[in-house]
Amino acid sequence: MKRICIVGISGKLGQYMTRHALALGYEVVGVCRPESVGKLDHLKGKITLFPGRTDDRQVVRRAVAGCDGVLVVLAPWGVHNYASGTAQAVLDFAEPDARLVFSCGWHISKDGKDRYSLKLRAFAALVTVIGPVLRVVDLNDQIEATKRVFSSDRLWTVVRGSDLEEGPSEGLPVWAEHVGDPVLASNLTRRTDFALFMVHALTDDRLIHKAPAIVGRSSASAQAVLGPSGAQWGPVR
Ligand SMILES: NC(=O)c1ccc[n+]([C@@H]2O[C@H](COP(=O)([O-])OP(=O)(O)OC[C@H]3O[C@@H](n4cnc5c(N)ncnc54)[C@H](OP(=O)(O)O)[C@@H]3O)[C@@H](O)[C@H]2O)c1
Repeated sequence: MKRICIVGISGKLGQYMTRHALALGYEVVGVCRPESVGKLDHLKGKITLFPGRTDDRQVVRRAVAGCDGVLVVLAPWGVHNYASGTAQAVLDFAEPDARLVFSCGWHISKDGKDRYSLKLRAFAALVTVIGPVLRVVDLNDQIEATKRVFSSDRLWTVVRGSDLEEGPSEGLPVWAEHVGDPVLASNLTRRTDFALFMVHALTDDRLIHKAPAIVGRSSASAQAVLGPSGAQWGPVR
């Protein structure tokens, strides 16, 4: 892995992924909305930016050219098919052998075998109904985006994040194939570690065509399954 593209680089997750990727010596290029370019002033000279909406096909086409890997923030914001447009552009234009890693939340299910708590189901249902009405969030569009990824024969991974919190790294999160697995019960991951897992997935072939659901490795549920040494990391069953 030499050169990677981060689509949605100016957000919190995008900036954490940038830090991890630069620390590994990767050359980083990124796409972000023009109004967000200023958020990355502190990285001037270290990364190459392609300003544009992340669903702008021509911008994405130029940005992913020559990249060995693409990390994609599937932002659920707005009601203009933003996430599905972003995913489609990456699927269409990334290099044939590139590793593609997409981010979303636990509410996305690859095979319908996830078991959700009542609280999570109620929250997802509420956001699905209210989000488009208020024209802020469209979870159905994120679902459509990941459907396209799941049905693609590209070298993809869809990383499904739990609830997130800020704070120093606890190390690489643990993961399970399905929400409802006891290891995930704590439902909390440090945002920097979500980013760490995304970058890790670029070079872990065991994660190709998987949709790992992640949780912080120091969380109570992960510790209960892994033990204090935490030497093993997912999948745990
Ligand atoms: N927040 C959570 O608790 C949570 C939990 C699980 C999974 N996730 C997943 O993690 C990823 C990033 O989430 P995050 O919470 O950490 O947020 P984040 O990193 O701050 O990312 C938000 C992204 O959305 C973009 N964005 C914001 N407003 C927008 C708008 N109106 N139109 C288009 N794009 C807009 C941002 O771009 P700008 O910099 O241009 O604003 C940024 O790229 C997503 O895939 C999300 O589904 C989040």
